[in-house]
Amino acid sequence: CGIVGYIGSRDVKEILLQSLEKLEYRGYDSAGIAVKGEDETKVFKEKGRIRDLRNKVEDDFEGKVGIGHTRWATHGEPSVVNSHPHQSLDGRFTLVHNGVIENYVQLKEDYLEDVNLVSDTDTEIIVQLIAKFAKEGSSTLEAFKKTLSLLHGSYALGLLDNEDDHTIYAAKNKSPLLLGAGEDFNVITSDAMAMLKLTNNFVELMDGEVIQVMRDQMIIQDLEGNDIERESYIAEIDASDTELGTYPHYMIKEINEQPQVMRKIIKEYQDDNGDFKIDDAIIKQLNDADRLYIIAAGTSYHAGLIGKEYIEKWAGVPTEVHVASEFVYNTPLLSEKPLFIFISQSGETADSRAVLVDIKEKGYPALTITNVVGSTLSREADQTLILHAGPEIAVASTKAYVAQIAVLSIVAAVTARELGKKSDLNLMSELGKVTTAITSVIDDASTIEEIVKNFLETTRNAFFIGRTMDYYVGLEGALKLKEISYIQAEGFAGGELKHGTIALIEDGTPVFSLITQEKVNLNTRGNAQEVAARGANVCTIAMEGLEQEGDSYIIPRVDEMLTPLVSVVVYQLISYYAALHRGNDVDKPRNLAKSVTVE
Ligand code: G6P
Repeated sequence: CGIVGYIGSRDVKEILLQSLEKLEYRGYDSAGIAVKGEDETKVFKEKGRIRDLRNKVEDDFEGKVGIGHTRWATHGEPSVVNSHPHQSLDGRFTLVHNGVIENYVQLKEDYLEDVNLVSDTDTEIIVQLIAKFAKEGSSTLEAFKKTLSLLHGSYALGLLDNEDDHTIYAAKNKSPLLLGAGEDFNVITSDAMAMLKLTNNFVELMDGEVIQVMRDQMIIQDLEGNDIERESYIAEIDASDTELGTYPHYMIKEINEQPQVMRKIIKEYQDDNGDFKIDDAIIKQLNDADRLYIIAAGTSYHAGLIGKEYIEKWAGVPTEVHVASEFVYNTPLLSEKPLFIFISQSGETADSRAVLVDIKEKGYPALTITNVVGSTLSREADQTLILHAGPEIAVASTKAYVAQIAVLSIVAAVTARELGKKSDLNLMSELGKVTTAITSVIDDASTIEEIVKNFLETTRNAFFIGRTMDYYVGLEGALKLKEISYIQAEGFAGGELKHGTIALIEDGTPVFSLITQEKVNLNTRGNAQEVAARGANVCTIAMEGLEQEGDSYIIPRVDEMLTPLVSVVVYQLISYYAALHRGNDVDKPRNLAKSVTVE
């Protein structure tokens, strides 16, 4: 979910709606805004997108203070009643919340036995508690603080008091929240990107702080009431990077940006001598470790699988890759000197953060590889490497995956060099060739659209097979297809399908077979034969030099270790066109959020 708030000299409605549109990547089940008018605080909310909410908002109800929310449902189905803002029963307090309150059932029992709650959400408990304490005589600030001290879980909160025209109250724990400062206004926001049209001047907030945001000042205090001073920073994001331009969807825009992202990474990670470089402090971290633990979720996890290959094969450092949400509750036996590497496009994924908090408590070092400067995972790790992919807006991740693999290849190559390992690979020039190859696949998008017509137009399921690197890319290909086309898809190690799952192959079942590794070329082709013999409609995508007659698509030749950077682009385009042909909302697929800030 994402939250925003504005207090200033302008009517707040359009400001809130536009900023929420920028936060829709955090969830888009339902949305709402609260506008503080002269006498009452009015709440407008709607199931669905911000565009649906727009129709609900009364144009002639004006106010210069307001808060807003876009939701990814956790407790309670997406509905008008469950969407935010939530209001206390007396209508005095109005609240937006990003996060999950773990002890809400207990709090209801202990404090709100006699209150008939309106919604099924954990959030409503917070606003009813504040109202209760205020009724018992506490000031709003005291009631807010008292409530905060009772909450267990994660939250970023924005609170309005109908009896106070001059303040938005805010607080956070685990979930991100920023203050934005302007000439005659101030804002709160889950992400700087949402407010870039108004300001690029932000103040970071920390867990355990209570904030009063007024039109011309902001007061940050700890729970004891001590004032906290904090410098603001300038968010260096170009607002135009988040615009669609002439593209029909962000996803295809971001796929097309990949060559540019590759060039940017090559430039950013180069020293004056034209060699790849990373910070000395990170090199030290890597040198000190006896084993690396890559922690990630979703697409970032798939990038981690490729990264492991580079680090182990080039640098010879043992590396494990773990799904964040599993690792935290089922930590494997750790080596003596582990280094944790968090890979996350957003830098906000709560599952990954849970691991970070845990390993930091145990005193282990952490490195975050993320696309978002100043994100939570970046701030809380000891070191950060930036992906330089530019804002990724489409929910299905594309350019961030390619950036993650490219940066991991650089980390591995630099580590290998520092450890004195000899290598014949000139990564700099090979990544240049990769960039050209990606461009040629993108230029050939219409051929890939034809593949979709031949293989995916009516199917309900699909398989992606491959071995070694191609297996990992198959996992990502299947995930992409599932996410946006809703076709049930599975990525499989070529040799494994026959051990059970082959039972699902029927006449016409599409099987994508990826061939970019000479060593396993014939093995994977053998596996493709096995499924073809049982009726599968096999689409073979092979790298130049390994192709055979009848293959459906040939990708340009690049170094075998680097093929994922190119082959994945074919799968990204296949998924894009499959979703497009089915009439799906490509950029905002059902049930998903780009950044999942709850565990
Ligand atoms: C969400 C997104 C995925 C993404 C995953 C990890 O589930 O829908 O596309 O891969 O989070 O996100 P991160 O920002 O940590 O890379």
